[in-house]
Amino acid sequence: MPLIAVLPGDGIGPEVMEASLPVVSAAAAKAGLKLEFEHALVGGAAYDAKGHPLPEDTSALCDRAAAIYFGAVGGPKYDKIPDPNLRPERGALLPLRKRYTLYANVRPAVVYKGLEKRSAIKPDIITGMDMLVVRELVGGAYFGKKELKETSAYDVIEYDAEQIERVLRFAFRAALERKKHLTLVHKANVLQTSILWKKVWDKVRAEYPKVTCDDCYVDAFAMYLISRPASYDVVVTENMMGDILTDEAAQVTGSIGLIASASLGAKTTEWGVFGLYEPAHGSAPDIAGKGIANPLATILSGAMMLRYSFGAEKAAQRIEAAVRKVLSKGLRTRDLAGAKGRALTTTEMGKAVLKAL
Ligand code: NAD
Ligand code: IPM
Ligand code: MN
Repeated sequence: MPLIAVLPGDGIGPEVMEASLPVVSAAAAKAGLKLEFEHALVGGAAYDAKGHPLPEDTSALCDRAAAIYFGAVGGPKYDKIPDPNLRPERGALLPLRKRYTLYANVRPAVVYKGLEKRSAIKPDIITGMDMLVVRELVGGAYFGKKELKETSAYDVIEYDAEQIERVLRFAFRAALERKKHLTLVHKANVLQTSILWKKVWDKVRAEYPKVTCDDCYVDAFAMYLISRPASYDVVVTENMMGDILTDEAAQVTGSIGLIASASLGAKTTEWGVFGLYEPAHGSAPDIAGKGIANPLATILSGAMMLRYSFGAEKAAQRIEAAVRKVLSKGLRTRDLAGAKGRALTTTEMGKAVLKAL
């Protein structure tokens, strides 16, 4: 029986995870797939209990698993941990991404029927938005040499051609399965790394003649993402630009509580591609413990897990259809209902998706 490492983490992480697990197991069971879930501590919760945000038993569990299902980590309390490498983000999440070389972070940003008016952007502009961001996840400023001195600091952005090429190929393959259009986002008018990205891009794109391509400076792209989000299909970019742009894309769709993600690399298991699946949002300390967080991003990440790590395409589609159904019925968590609208709790939203399934 395939094993899933469940790492709920901090803040709303455990809340959204609890609402999502029954949905994932039910969809898997319907497809004849029996999954074993084993929980472990990660992030601040692990630091409190064991003195490290990624304890050895947690990484050992992940090593044995076919996939990692992750909630969120971090919070104000843990920002004060003196050694930044022991803080949840740098001490657990980034090391997990690196440990399995999860270089391709896939984040779909879709405007769902019925939510067109929830976005801060006008409905006629966002209608039809269905974009897939492929964010490079194990290079760039996050993993370059860093130093903080008394009055100066640096974070080196470093990429080599091989790192760029593998994620570009991933993005081209994704484009081939969609509308066959790929956009590269970069800052080649300033950054040496972006010049290298463009050079590798020119080489790789020649091998995918069926995919039409364009490229765009990141500052202009940030603008077009708001003025014409529906004109994009697959977008590929480096680590930090992808981080920022996917939160922006989330706002265009209505809420970060809708953005799922899969982080994939070269590791495979007998069941499929090994991956880490997590919502794009964080631990949301401002709403943690209130039971009002939107679990849909985590539920949809579970669908991606069934698709990529277990080849259960039908089960994934069933979850996605169930999410579309609850949204089209007008069911909303607080982030989507607005201050005055009727809102479901996290648990109720999970149950509504389960029922729709
Ligand atoms: P955040 O994503 O946690 O929250 C930003 C805003 O979005 C908040 O107002 C929050 O209430 C709202 N929000 C987020 N998820 C929501 C959901 N599911 N439903 C409804 N509303 C939701 O980002 P932040 O506040 O910048 O960061 C908080 C902490 O989370 C920090 O410690 C940060 O480092 C960490 N973080 C972790 C991850 C991760 O574990 N993958 C991702 C991003 C941020
Ligand atoms: C994300 C988060 C992380 C990132 C942080 C928590 C390290 O913002 O997954 O988008 O920047 O990658
Ligand atoms: Mn982010």
